[in-house]
Amino acid sequence: MLVKRDAGIKMKRIKVELGKNSYDIVLNQGGLAHVGEELNKLVKGKQVLIVTDENVAKFYLAPLKQSLELAGYKVEEQVIPAGEKSKNPSTYLELIDILGNLKFLRDDTVVALGGGVVGDLAGFVAATYMRGINLVQVPTSLLAMIDSSIGGKVGVDLPYGKNLLGAFYQPKLVFIDVDTLSTLPENEWNNGLGEGLKYALLDGGRLFDIMNDQSVKANLQEFVELCADYKARIVEKDEKESDLRRLLNLGHTLGHAIEKKSNYELPHGEAVKYGLKLILQASGRLNGNINLDNEITLINKYDANIPYDVEELVSLITNDKKAESDSINAVFVKSAGNCYIKKLSFEEFKKLF
Ligand SMILES: NC(=O)c1ccc[n+]([C@@H]2O[C@H](COP(=O)([O-])OP(=O)(O)OC[C@H]3O[C@@H](n4cnc5c(N)ncnc54)[C@H](O)[C@@H]3O)[C@@H](O)[C@H]2O)c1
Ligand SMILES: [Zn+2]
Repeated sequence: MLVKRDAGIKMKRIKVELGKNSYDIVLNQGGLAHVGEELNKLVKGKQVLIVTDENVAKFYLAPLKQSLELAGYKVEEQVIPAGEKSKNPSTYLELIDILGNLKFLRDDTVVALGGGVVGDLAGFVAATYMRGINLVQVPTSLLAMIDSSIGGKVGVDLPYGKNLLGAFYQPKLVFIDVDTLSTLPENEWNNGLGEGLKYALLDGGRLFDIMNDQSVKANLQEFVELCADYKARIVEKDEKESDLRRLLNLGHTLGHAIEKKSNYELPHGEAVKYGLKLILQASGRLNGNINLDNEITLINKYDANIPYDVEELVSLITNDKKAESDSINAVFVKSAGNCYIKKLSFEEFKKLF
């Protein structure tokens, strides 16, 4: 459905069908001013807490707040420091404390305005305060628009590892305004593009072409829409990641090892990009040396010279998994658009690299 609102503003709705947990992803270019009226259709409570970070607040807190106030909400805000270090239990408890002091009730709403850090953190707050209050995701990074804001995984990091304290909790609404990407720093673009390459390989169609032509910026609304739609269709079939949703881990088995090897200095999306290249090479060997040149060429267009020793990365993976299992479930590629999950023993897995 494509609706013209005002001159030049395009609006699109993607439905995520999850029974009583269903929600819409609204793509509304240049439309942050419409968040308030969208929320009015969905929730009864009149209190809203916007959680955002210091970088995003500079540009988008005021217009979002105005939109919500004009729609009749009493709006509070909490601006946290930018970056992964804010995704921790003490910031989580500070936010819970704010909700408690403001006497938020079940019908009230937390709005996450920002990248995946804000989305995961504020999402976990909304998931757990009073056993769950309304959550709205307003993603502003490319990674959050195409991946983290959709699907309901929320949580914080613990000293023992990333995302160890969390929940599955679906938002009431995801509101995407791709115009907010105009202020995203270049390195964060590249971070989002790493996840974009994953969708290009899973989809194999228009998303592959857009990325292969290196024309994401020129087709931004369509690109974000197609990625969001791809994720929504998978989440609908497998909300709690028991099977199909694992396809979204394409490139992540090695990607996680690369992140770890870099002491988490390499952005997630960059690590996934390298992980994709390695798994493509391995997929070729696994399937009798099938030709995946087009797929590998696509990844190479985004500077994919892997900065680590591959054997070392593979040992890191098998050592990590030894405690829980003697095999590895990884996602492999037959061709762009044809990916599958396969269980291999450590020995079989190692031989592929
Ligand atoms: N829940 C999920 O399914 C899921 C999936 C993938 C990743 N994640 C999580 O997402 C997080 C990473 O998300 P991220 O890459 O968005 O990181 P992030 O939230 O730290 O954002 C990246 C940087 O960009 C800035 N920024 C965001 N939007 C901006 C804008 N429009 N203009 C200017 N600056 C802007 C932020 O302030 C930050 O400095 C990780 O914690 C990861 O674990 C979650
Ligand atoms: Zn990822």
